[in-house]
Amino acid sequence: MNNNNIEIVNPPDNKLSYNKICEEWHKFRKNSVINKCVADFAELLCANGDILDVGCGTGQPIAQYLANRGFHVTGIDFSAEMIKKAKALNLANATFIECDFFDFQSEKMFDGIIAFDSLWHIAKENQPLIYDKLASMTKKGGFLLFTHGNRDDQTIGTMYNQEFYYSALPTEKVRELLTCAGFDVITLIENYKEKTTGDRDLLVIAQKR
Ligand SMILES: C[S@@+](CC[C@H](N)C(=O)[O-])C[C@H]1O[C@@H](n2cnc3c(N)ncnc32)[C@H](O)[C@@H]1O
Repeated sequence: MNNNNIEIVNPPDNKLSYNKICEEWHKFRKNSVINKCVADFAELLCANGDILDVGCGTGQPIAQYLANRGFHVTGIDFSAEMIKKAKALNLANATFIECDFFDFQSEKMFDGIIAFDSLWHIAKENQPLIYDKLASMTKKGGFLLFTHGNRDDQTIGTMYNQEFYYSALPTEKVRELLTCAGFDVITLIENYKEKTTGDRDLLVIAQKR
């Protein structure tokens, strides 16, 4: 993300944009290698545990990988087209729900929550609210993995000829919000790099106290 912290008056509609690029995204993600950080996260969780995948996209490769490992996966995404693709996988251990993150209500608490490349799409004014919401759905001792930006920022980017809105808070603010929400930070890496995928400004694994 660029350091471009100006007011964005008419942000692009991310839901619409993701619906429009769904076919291209599907082609890209269906053959993606699973990130090492996702495999490491799975190792932290109890066998057959419940996982929430926030902004699950097409369910590939992350929800599919986790479901095939025997976890019970609930994937949520506000793009109807993404959820259609995810449901078409017919994964025995996974349920996919078309829903905005902040509207999602769950009776069950999760052993693990993963939000891979999705939280940076949440409006700047709602960024401080993310971690209490995640904490409210995480069991005591449960784990959270997410990627994010690492600067006080909001910006517009382009993917497959569609515009997308992004925002982030400074890393130290994210750390403070996580702690206040009841998470202990286990791993926090800025400029996280993996051989198989692009770089990420921030990778966090945290555990609920
Ligand atoms: C960059 S994609 C990542 C998808 C998936 N996690 C992956 O690794 O392929 C971001 C996803 O987050 C979803 N998303 C963005 N904001 C959301 C929100 N407020 N509620 C639910 N889903 C959201 C988008 O529809 C999109 O599928």
